[in-house]
Amino acid sequence: MPPPAQFVFRGPIQRRDRVAVCGYHGWQDWYIGSTARWRGVPEAVRNLTHTFPYNDLDARETLLQQYPAEFAAVILEPMNVIEPAPGYLAGVKDLTQRHGAVLIFDETVTGFRYANGGAQEFFGVTPDLATFGKGMANGYPLSAIAGRGDIMKLMEEIFFLHVWWRDLSLAAALATLEKLLARTRGRGRGSQWETLRLAVEGQIEQHQLSEWLGVSGHPSWTFLTLKDAPGCTTLESKTLLMQELLLRGVLWIGSHNMSYAHAQEDIDQLTAAYDAAFSLLRQAIESGRPQALFAL
Ligand SMILES: Cc1ncc(COP(=O)(O)O)c(C=O)c1O
Repeated sequence: MPPPAQFVFRGPIQRRDRVAVCGYHGWQDWYIGSTARWRGVPEAVRNLTHTFPYNDLDARETLLQQYPAEFAAVILEPMNVIEPAPGYLAGVKDLTQRHGAVLIFDETVTGFRYANGGAQEFFGVTPDLATFGKGMANGYPLSAIAGRGDIMKLMEEIFFLHVWWRDLSLAAALATLEKLLARTRGRGRGSQWETLRLAVEGQIEQHQLSEWLGVSGHPSWTFLTLKDAPGCTTLESKTLLMQELLLRGVLWIGSHNMSYAHAQEDIDQLTAAYDAAFSLLRQAIESGRPQALFAL
């Protein structure tokens, strides 16, 4: 018996099962099956997700050409650690459209952060769909998907619901968005958040660590990038930095997710902690015995 008319799948992505991914997109089977930690994910699912490297349009083209008319969607974080090369995001959009697939920007982090309109506003490239979360409700559990009307209409044929669905998060999102709309303080170049990036860059230079340590990303979401040094692996450097920052009251995983709640004194506390931590890191690299500096 054919399915009832309202459950018949329509639209351009009919009968396409493959997804091309670039970035981190969560723990569900369709994504995590493409990573090294795929245990429990059926092979049939794993085979449908393909990764592609960032900032490499040729690799993207090759992948899409490998399975003509089989890719339903291309999903990527528009930016995380590295800036998109000039024309990269527009190129991804063009390529995706030419292959008849749907372009999704995963703006779980960049949404409401790079700009109120997310990375798509910041870079001036609009995808077909975009996902949002995190900053949208200022930490309350909420996520959203938005995009082209004809694709969004298909949601009527997709069941989604969960136990912890609460309206409290919607109220938090409304309050957050009102505040974000009212803020005029910058988040990009020249903003207070960029002063943090510049300060940390200066400290890295001052402690002569530039060979192994750097800062990258948008001022609202920067990362310390670490490399293996002779006698001190990336993991050892990170362990040492984490230890020293924790000792100084900073919970640290290597990135700076800035928010309007951060005041100058928070930035000062962080840079003071970095000063001490970088000094120890330099010592660890010079001595080649980082483990001797571990507190435990
Ligand atoms: C870019 C990006 N996409 C997706 C996710 C996953 O979100 P969730 O755990 O709510 O599925 C994350 C979470 O860290 C993320 O950073």
